[in-house]
Amino acid sequence: MITRNPYIANLKAGYLFPEIAKRRREFAASHPEAKIISLGVGNTTELILPHINEGLTEGARRLGTAEGYSGYQDEGMAALREKISSVFYKGKFGIDEIFISDGAKCDIGRLQILFGAGVKIAVQDPSYPVYVDGSVLTGAAGGWESGGGYAGITYLPCTAENNFFPNLDLIPRSCLIYFCSPNNPTGAVADRAQLASLVKAAIDKQCIIIFDAAYSEFIRDSLLPKTIYEIDKAETCAIEVNSFSKPAGFTGVRLGWSVVPKAVKYAGSESGEAAFSVNADWSRIAGTIFNGASNIAQAGGLAALDETGLKEIRELTDFYLGNAKLIRDALVKLGIKCIGGDNSPYIWAHFPGRDSWEVFAEILEKCHVVTTPGAGFGPAGQGFIRFSAFGHRADVEEACGRLRNFVF
Ligand SMILES: Cc1ncc(COP(=O)(O)O)c(C=O)c1O
Repeated sequence: MITRNPYIANLKAGYLFPEIAKRRREFAASHPEAKIISLGVGNTTELILPHINEGLTEGARRLGTAEGYSGYQDEGMAALREKISSVFYKGKFGIDEIFISDGAKCDIGRLQILFGAGVKIAVQDPSYPVYVDGSVLTGAAGGWESGGGYAGITYLPCTAENNFFPNLDLIPRSCLIYFCSPNNPTGAVADRAQLASLVKAAIDKQCIIIFDAAYSEFIRDSLLPKTIYEIDKAETCAIEVNSFSKPAGFTGVRLGWSVVPKAVKYAGSESGEAAFSVNADWSRIAGTIFNGASNIAQAGGLAALDETGLKEIRELTDFYLGNAKLIRDALVKLGIKCIGGDNSPYIWAHFPGRDSWEVFAEILEKCHVVTTPGAGFGPAGQGFIRFSAFGHRADVEEACGRLRNFVF
């Protein structure tokens, strides 16, 4: 018999969202009359807007024509890669540095394969679970320690005390730093000075940053950077992942991209000892365990990035930001301290001294609203609840009304 992969055995508890779904199912079974509303999982709810949808439809139609048919394209359609470079990076990157993916989460998993089991990891705490759990699966996280946390991971607490930006002195030398801005779950957005200090720390400590910009299209404050490459020299130390999921409603369509600049180097490359290229290795991974994103999704992505498509992205993200404002206002009226929700679709609400899962259960019990317990995102998430702005407006309004009647 084959034995179980020991790295799977190293995973702690269930993945956060299946656990929430289980608790919701159990509550629904014992309260069949309850109309449960979810402000929990960050899944999109609104329709794909017409112009972008037309791009998808047209992409499918073209596959039935001799001139429009295409097969495998491991790294993605050249036209889409060019468009991404011009729309998001002012043409700073060549198309051989932009790789189309089937989503940011999938690319994070493949990046974890790229860097392998031997790499040290630093993560914001709390963080999007895939950074830690994916590292556990590749063996990079090491074993669970009795004090809490994995041996191979350095946790960088992001708390109210440090305004949700970590102390960079904690970052070890030569590690992979996962950094997400706008942040899931805290909703915090790093400003230019903060990102510049992150890039400086990465260069000084010979680290590589995996910068997750999946929520960049929710940034409305023009002073906040939408990509790490707005920071000087970031192209020498950062890989950026991004996604069409939230801005275009492509959570089910599956499309994203990663920027792997040629200037990002492995240790030893200055002395010529290591002649290997991160960019070339990434290209090899794409060809080995990924056969590229759907060409229909890519046609939709191209439509999303033309003038009309970008207006639709703005419209859709404005809608979710409108939800976020409603939720945040409702919580603030209750005297609950929150951050996020202005340049991000997540609101991070503080319940000092309380256990997150207990608050989660109380909100579900009394308001029939599903949220996400902050502790599920890491130790520093204890005492917080994440509210997601992804929902139909009528549901969000009703949930806010129920929250207003509730005294915490
Ligand atoms: C921070 C962050 N990165 C990546 C993803 C996944 O994006 P995708 O749908 O492109 O895989 C999510 C989804 O919730 C996310 O919150």
